[in-house]
Amino acid sequence: MLDRFLKQFGKQNGEKREERVSESAETASGAPQLPDGEDIEDFDHPGRNVPPKPVKSPDEPTTLVFANSKGGVGKSTVAFLSCLKLALKRPDCLIEFIDLDRQATTSESLYRFANKKFRLISDPEFLLASGGVNNARIYQHLKSGFQLKSENEKRFVFFDTPAGTTPTEYSFMLDTDYLFVPTSASDADLGATKKFLSRLYDANPLINGGKIKFLPTVVVIPNLLEDRTEILTIYRNLREFPCFLGHPIFYSKVFRTTFNYGISDHNVVDLLRITEDFGDWLVNVVCDHSLTAYTPSTLHQI
Ligand SMILES: Nc1ncnc2c1ncn2[C@@H]1O[C@H](COP(=O)(O)OP(=O)(O)OP(=O)(O)O)[C@@H](O)[C@H]1O
Ligand SMILES: [Mg+2]
Repeated sequence: MLDRFLKQFGKQNGEKREERVSESAETASGAPQLPDGEDIEDFDHPGRNVPPKPVKSPDEPTTLVFANSKGGVGKSTVAFLSCLKLALKRPDCLIEFIDLDRQATTSESLYRFANKKFRLISDPEFLLASGGVNNARIYQHLKSGFQLKSENEKRFVFFDTPAGTTPTEYSFMLDTDYLFVPTSASDADLGATKKFLSRLYDANPLINGGKIKFLPTVVVIPNLLEDRTEILTIYRNLREFPCFLGHPIFYSKVFRTTFNYGISDHNVVDLLRITEDFGDWLVNVVCDHSLTAYTPSTLHQI
C-alpha cells in the first residue's frame, strides 16, 4: 500500500507550489524563527550530570517515542507524520510502528501503508492486563525483530504512547534514542509538559536506584501553534530543561482528517505537504545522531 501512496505523493508533489493546500500551515510556519527583536539564547554548554549514551552497535534499532502525560497535544499526529515521512525519504530503511495506546488510532490509520519495509507491530503482550506497559516484552522485541540484510540497512522503531504515561511506568522510554514531547502553548499543556519533563529529569528512586544513567535525546515539539510568538511562550516556560526545542507545527484544519482511513489517501498527502519542513527536519535529526550528540544545559533550539 505504501507504494501506491508513494506514487500518489510523488505525482502530486510534482505539481506547482501554487497548488498547495490553501491553508498550508507550513507556509505559515517556515523555519522556527522568533518574533522580531526576540531571540532564543544559543547555549553551547556540555550536558549537566547526564553522561552521553554509549555508541550503539550497528544492528541495534534507532528507537523513537512520542510521549507526554497530557492528552491531546499531538503525540499520535506527530508520530504518524514522522514515520510516514521517514518511510518516504528513506525507503531503504526498515520501519516498525508500535502503538501502545489501546485506542489504536494511529496504527489503524497506518495499516493501509504497511508493507515489507514498513511494519505495524501489534503484540497483546506489550500491554499488561492492569493497563500498564510490559517494559520487559518491549526490550525483548527490540533485541529480536527484523533480520537486517546488510550493515548499511537501518531499522527504526516508533512508539506512540497514550496520555497519562510517566517515565517510571514506561521505563523503556528512558532507554530509547529519541523522546519527542509535543506540546501546545496553552497554559494547561505547558503545565503538564513541565511536570512530565521534571519527572524525567528528577532522579527517580524507582529508576536506576535514583540515578539517571543515560537519557534519550529529548526534543520538545511545539504543536498546534497559532503564530510565531507561541514558540517563544513555549521556550520561556520550558527553558530550564536540558533538552532540545524542535521544529514547530502550526495549527491547521487539514489535521482534522489525519486519521481518516477511507478510500482516498488525499488527506495524508495534504498533511505531508503542509508539514514538509517539519518532516524534513525530523528525518535529518533522527538520521544524523551528531546533530544531537550533546546534552544542552538548558532548552536549546535545533
Ligand atoms: N497542528 C495541528 N493542527 C490542528 N489540529 C491538530 C494539530 N495537531 C494535532 N491536531 C488535532 O488535535 C487532536 C489531538 O491530536 P492527537 O490525537 O495527535 O493528540 P494525542 O496527544 O495523541 O492525544 P491522546 O492523548 O488522546 O492520545 C486531534 O484531533 C488532531 O487531529
Ligand atoms: Mg494519541
